[in-house]
Amino acid sequence: MKARTIMVILILIFFTGAFAIAVQNEGEKDIKLDGGNRGAIDFPHHLHQSAIGDCNSCHDIFPKTSGIIKDLKEQKKLKKKQVMNKTCIKCHKAKKKAGEKTGPTKKCSACHVK
Ligand code: HEC
Ligand code: HEC
Ligand code: HEC
Repeated sequence: MKARTIMVILILIFFTGAFAIAVQNEGEKDIKLDGGNRGAIDFPHHLHQSAIGDCNSCHDIFPKTSGIIKDLKEQKKLKKKQVMNKTCIKCHKAKKKAGEKTGPTKKCSACHVK
């Protein structure tokens, strides 16, 4: 009887955990971002998810919604190039300084592919 209760609890914990993982919407693998007159950016979203792990290193600044950076800039809630300089390039530079694998730190065309 006792062992059965423990089994039931373990099975419940397992399925709750599996459900939580399945339910997380990871978004598109690759995302095209608006880069104004400098040209669009091909952003490897899932590469960043696995390289960084913490969704909030970006989604603290803007929510998990398609096109939100452009919308927030239009509403003047984000400044032009704010995400570029204060999120993307800031992190890439910090990683470079720490000698870790990183992304583009200054070459415009490495991000703005047109
Ligand atoms: C390095 C930055 C970064 C990290 C880390 C990151 N994201 Fe995103 N995410 C973005 C950007 C940029 C967009 C696109 C925003 C836009 O279109 O304006 C986005 C959009 C999204 C969207 C909505 C668009 C779509 O494709 O459906 C979802 C959902 C999302 N992210 C989920 C996540 C989850 C879950 C994690 C963590 C496992 C995560 N993101 C980690 C940068 C990031
Ligand atoms: C690490 C990737 C990255 C690099 C390198 C980069 N950019 Fe950007 N850039 C972005 C992203 C993402 C956006 C859109 C979000 C924003 O405006 O912050 C953007 C937006 C822009 C915009 C549009 C701003 C607006 O709203 O009108 C201009 C102009 C721009 N970048 C110029 C440059 C120039 C010039 C360089 C090289 C000196 C450069 N970028 C390098 C990622 C990058
Ligand atoms: C918190 C840190 C962090 C943030 C924020 C971040 N990146 Fe990166 N980025 C990385 C790391 C780490 C890599 C190297 C990943 C790898 O190669 O495994 C990378 C790589 C890249 C690459 C090169 C991909 C390749 O195929 O070599 C591009 C392009 C890039 N980032 C664009 C962006 C843009 C655009 C943003 C902002 C929307 C951004 N990153 C925000 C950490 C970050």
